[in-house]
Amino acid sequence: MMIRRRTFAHVVSAAAAAALVSTQPNAVLGTTRVLGQSVALKDIVPAGWVIGAAINQNQSDGRDGVAVDLITRQFNSISPENVLKFQSVHPEPDRFTFDAADRYVAFGRDRRMAVIGHNLVWHSQTPRWVWDGPDGGLADRTTMLARMRTHIATVVGRYKGKIRGWDVVNEALSDDGTLRDSPWRRGIGDDYVAQAFTFAHEADPSAELYYNDYNLATRPEKRAGAIRIIKDLQQRRIRIDAVGEQGHWRLDTPTPAQIDQAITDLRATGVKVMITELDVNLLPQAAPPTAGQPPSSESNPYATGLPDDVQQALARYYADAFRIFLTHRDDITRVTFWGVSDADSWLNRGRMNYPLLWDRQRHPKPAFDSVVTVLTGKR
Ligand code: XIL
Repeated sequence: MMIRRRTFAHVVSAAAAAALVSTQPNAVLGTTRVLGQSVALKDIVPAGWVIGAAINQNQSDGRDGVAVDLITRQFNSISPENVLKFQSVHPEPDRFTFDAADRYVAFGRDRRMAVIGHNLVWHSQTPRWVWDGPDGGLADRTTMLARMRTHIATVVGRYKGKIRGWDVVNEALSDDGTLRDSPWRRGIGDDYVAQAFTFAHEADPSAELYYNDYNLATRPEKRAGAIRIIKDLQQRRIRIDAVGEQGHWRLDTPTPAQIDQAITDLRATGVKVMITELDVNLLPQAAPPTAGQPPSSESNPYATGLPDDVQQALARYYADAFRIFLTHRDDITRVTFWGVSDADSWLNRGRMNYPLLWDRQRHPKPAFDSVVTVLTGKR
C-alpha cells in the first residue's frame, strides 16, 4: 500500500494525496479504484467553479451511506433531484411539505456545499391545482400570479440565506426557440418568466437566480430563445446571474464545437454559464416500453454490461467536454452531474444505462479517470 500511495502521490495534488491516506475503505479496492476514488473532483476544478451532483432522497435522508460518502468526498455542490419541485413541497394550495427538502438543505449546509434550488416554475412535476380555474378551465392571470408568488415567497423565503441559487424558471422554451405553450404562459402571459424572477428576488435578494433549459448546445434557435429571455430580464432590470444548459447529452451530440459555441454565445449576454444536469445517454432513443413488458433487446443493448469500446467512447466524450469547459473556465461557475452513479440515474427507466462517472457498484469508471486527467492538466 505504501508504495502505491507514494507512486500515486507524485502524480496528483498534495490535497488529493492527503485524502488518499484518510480514506481507508478504498484500500479494499484494486489499485485503479484506490487511485480513482482518492482524487476528489472538488479539489481539482478551477477556482471559481463548484462541482455538483443531483442527489436523490435516499441520499439526502442518509439511507444510502455509500453514496453519501462518495458525494461528501467528491462534490462541493448539490442539486435536489426531486425534493424541491413544486409537487414535492406544495401539493395542495394550503399545504407545504418541507421535511425532505429541509433534510436536503441541511445535508449540503452540514458539508459546507453550495446548495442549489431546483426549481420554482416549470410545466412538469407541478400539481394541477396550480393552474386550475373554478370552471375546470385555466385560472385567470391574477389568480395564477398570486399562486406563483405565494409558492415562490414561501419556498425561497424558507431557505433564505441557505440556498445559494435557484433555477427560477425551468424549460420555458420549445425547440424552435419560442416560448413553450405551458399552462403558466397560457394563464399569465409571456411575462410569467419575468414575474417569477421578480418574486424570487423579493423573497431572497441575495440568492443567485438562474434560467435553466436543455438543447441549448444542440439547437442554435433554442439557444437564441434563451438569449432573448436573458436580455428581456436585463432590459427590465431584473436579476439573473446565470444560464444553465442542462447537459443531457449523447455520444454523438452535441459535438465539442457545439458545446464551445453554446458557452460563447450564452456568456456573451453577460451572465455566467452553468452545466446543470450533465449526463451522457448511451441508449438508443426508444418509445416508452409498454407497462409490465420488459424492454426490447434493441432498445436495451447493454442489458448485461457495457462493451469496452463504448466505455472508452464515453470516457473520451467526457474528456472532450471538460477540455472545452476548461477553455471557458472564466465563463463557467458550476458543473453539476444529474446523479452520482449509474445505478441512480433517471436515464435507466427500466433499461440499463451508463451515463455517469461511477458504475453501479459506485466504483469510478474510465470516464472518471479521463475527467480527472483533463482537470489536472495531464492531457
Ligand atoms: C428528473 C428526475 O431525475 C426524475 O427522478 C424525475 O422522475 C423526473 O425529473 N430536467 C430537469 C430535471 O430539469 O428536474 C429532471 O429530473 C430531468 C430533466
